[in-house]
Amino acid sequence: MVTVDDDAAVSPAVDTQDWHRWLMEETERFESEKRQFESELSRLKRENAHLKGELARLRAPPQVIGTVRDMLADGRISIKSSSGPDFVVHTSENIDREALLAGDRVALHRQTLAVLEVLPSVKDSLVMGAEVLEKPSETYKDIGGLRKELDELRSTVELPLLKPELFDAVGVEPPKGILLIGAPGTGKTLLAKAVANATDASFIRLIGSELVQKYIGEGARLVRELFQLAHEKSPSIIFIDELDAVGAKRMDVGTTGDREVQRTLMQLLGELDGFTPRGDIAIMAASNRPDILDEALLRPGRFDRVIRVPLPDSEARLKILKIHSHSMSLTRNLSLKKLVRKTEGMSGADLRALCVEAGMNAIQKERDKVRAVDFQRALKKMRNRLTEADQKEPEQALYS
Ligand SMILES: Nc1ncnc2c1ncn2[C@@H]1O[C@H](COP(=O)(O)OP(=O)(O)OP(=O)(O)O)[C@@H](O)[C@H]1O
Ligand SMILES: [Mg+2]
Repeated sequence: MVTVDDDAAVSPAVDTQDWHRWLMEETERFESEKRQFESELSRLKRENAHLKGELARLRAPPQVIGTVRDMLADGRISIKSSSGPDFVVHTSENIDREALLAGDRVALHRQTLAVLEVLPSVKDSLVMGAEVLEKPSETYKDIGGLRKELDELRSTVELPLLKPELFDAVGVEPPKGILLIGAPGTGKTLLAKAVANATDASFIRLIGSELVQKYIGEGARLVRELFQLAHEKSPSIIFIDELDAVGAKRMDVGTTGDREVQRTLMQLLGELDGFTPRGDIAIMAASNRPDILDEALLRPGRFDRVIRVPLPDSEARLKILKIHSHSMSLTRNLSLKKLVRKTEGMSGADLRALCVEAGMNAIQKERDKVRAVDFQRALKKMRNRLTEADQKEPEQALYS
């Protein structure tokens, strides 16, 4: 609004030049104000658009997450929704159906469950599950006994990784997968970790039971990504612990859980088949239930080398006791040799537990040296526990 001083406007004393200058200044001021308002207006318009977008996003119905199961011949796909059941659905036009893979995570329309979007794969969940260790701390020195088994493992895992040219020169393919079998606590996991320590390979450990329990519906995808990860981080050792959890014999029981295990197993078999052993990657697995493993896993080209890990004999038991009592302070005249005779049938893990238990007994008595009596009490406690376990699980007694 122009407000002109009435007196000044009518006063004949006012020079027309002054009047003119004043008008120019006012015009400039208004124009600058106008520019300011215009920029304010465009800022508010942008903010309005942003808020409208935000409102639309907040009002959008939630999408359901699902996992791709299968591509059907008619172009539809079968998916497993995160709420449980499987569905056959269509895909939105902007989804490249050719690029979809079984195991992909997808966002689904809430009502029609049509696939709207392919979600990025979550590799970190795999890494969490797979426990990627750059280098385990266990070494060969931590293993009591098992020399023959260790030598075999070294020549089949270490050599192809460290000296692949040797295999080229001789012209043989190293075995593809190595399966360690033996009773619980005999040192299978320990062996695998020690071998990984001796090579500079990354060690990727995947625990079978976690694969099927923690990542329901995602086992197959995880197996696929695990092998991808092994390639990225090569040289690497893939170690599938508790293989029996994914590799149990396939039966006709149709529960969702079983189907899930089967799909994971199929993916694992597929990865093993499409895999060349000299590609800087070694595959190891361990199981304490070889009796229930699917034979398909043991076929040539898969886990074609089986190493049996036995319970320790007396010589090995003495070594294991020495390893685990190494940092304990024992009374000087305590004879581990005599102790060994009383540990018949115990596994490496039992012997370690025995040492810990004996140490605890000494601490309880507020002594700073562990005495024979502490081991005796520990032995008694462990024997009770072992016989209890035998009664609960009679099949345990069948292990060699
Ligand atoms: N031969 C061994 N020498 C030294 N320690 C051993 C030996 N065997 C087992 N142990 C001890 O027992 C612990 C458990 O062993 P490990 O996890 O390797 O057994 P496992 O065969 O993998 O058993 P599971 O079948 O239950 O998985 C090891 O961390 C180690 O402390
Ligand atoms: Mg183990």
